[in-house]
Amino acid sequence: MQAAFIERLGPPDVIRYSEVPAPLPGPSDVLVDVAATTVNPVDTFVRSGLFRTPMDFPFVISRDLVGTVAATGDGVRGFTVGERVWCNSLGHGGRQGAAAEQAVVPADRLYRLPDRVDPYEALATVHPAATAHLALFTHGRLRRGETVVVAGGAGNVGSALVAMAAWAGARVVATARPGDAGYCRRLGAAEVVDHRAGDQWERLRDAAPDGIDLYTDTSKPQRLGAGDTAAGSARQGRGARGGRVPARAARRGDVHEGRLGRRVRHLPGAGAGAGGGGRSHQHPARAGPVAAATHRDAATGRRGGGAPAHGARRAERTARPAHPARSGRPAIGVRPGGRLPVGDG
Ligand SMILES: NC(=O)c1ccc[n+]([C@@H]2O[C@H](COP(=O)([O-])OP(=O)(O)OC[C@H]3O[C@@H](n4cnc5c(N)ncnc54)[C@H](OP(=O)(O)O)[C@@H]3O)[C@@H](O)[C@H]2O)c1
Repeated sequence: MQAAFIERLGPPDVIRYSEVPAPLPGPSDVLVDVAATTVNPVDTFVRSGLFRTPMDFPFVISRDLVGTVAATGDGVRGFTVGERVWCNSLGHGGRQGAAAEQAVVPADRLYRLPDRVDPYEALATVHPAATAHLALFTHGRLRRGETVVVAGGAGNVGSALVAMAAWAGARVVATARPGDAGYCRRLGAAEVVDHRAGDQWERLRDAAPDGIDLYTDTSKPQRLGAGDTAAGSARQGRGARGGRVPARAARRGDVHEGRLGRRVRHLPGAGAGAGGGGRSHQHPARAGPVAAATHRDAATGRRGGGAPAHGARRAERTARPAHPARSGRPAIGVRPGGRLPVGDG
């Protein structure tokens, strides 16, 4: 089969595209015909070695896939050949990746894709939406009626944060550039503040006069403890409610806690390879609720994360061009007007 793989860690040009032997599923695995994959930020960190994780060479890159079941291991129950499925936890922890015509997925990391869900929208959504779900509900303990600030509300994770928090009945205050304000409002933000305005922190306090219950920041790096942040202001100033700050930067060192200290809860997973030490947020025990939410949202006709993909396809020929883009200014681009992670293959 054709695959995009590396034989050593390094810059984007270590990625090769050619024939590799098709993988064989073990007793608890499912063999998936891959329809599409993504280039996720963490893929670039795994490829470069920034995130150290066990791997065998040649190592097929990429974490996320949608596809159909081609075969199941003898011990697998609950999946049938031809069924549509998704996974967002390959290419890490000793597992080969998704950028290939076929991939082996442990059955407990694989989820059925409901018929009504567009596979490419699902693909673009599952990873940032899983991250957002963790931030809001697992670590943020968000409750109906609370006020949540989403700094960077128009990004991949940010748009999922805005949409999910609004669905959960929270009052959402997003920050975004003015051109993205309408997008954030359509996702459910009650207020949108220009994150490039010099007085954005004053505007945030005005937008959340009763205080901030949960502060999430998707910018890189996260300047949580700069003292002039909304969270910092909330802690010291009016309306502080003992708000919570889940941190989910790619690298733990990107989060500057400053005086926020114990208020900051680091999300395991996103920073796990770079010193976070946590378990992957794609661990089945945690992915389960996300999968359930995905299914529930599909059943009610809601669109996950507000992140329509414009047609991510096969990554074999496009992963390498996409990796330099991700290595510099990140460019997943799953929102309208954004940049595509992977073009048509
Ligand atoms: N994507 C995933 O699946 C995923 C999963 C786990 C962790 N993460 C991590 O989550 C973070 C965000 O990733 P992403 O994919 O969502 O990136 P993204 O789509 O590029 O979003 C980043 C957002 O931050 C905003 N921003 C930039 N400067 C800002 C500032 N000074 N104040 C407030 N907002 C600012 C950007 O707005 P502008 O466009 O206006 O500049 C953009 O909306 C990264 O650290 C990434 O490694 C991502």
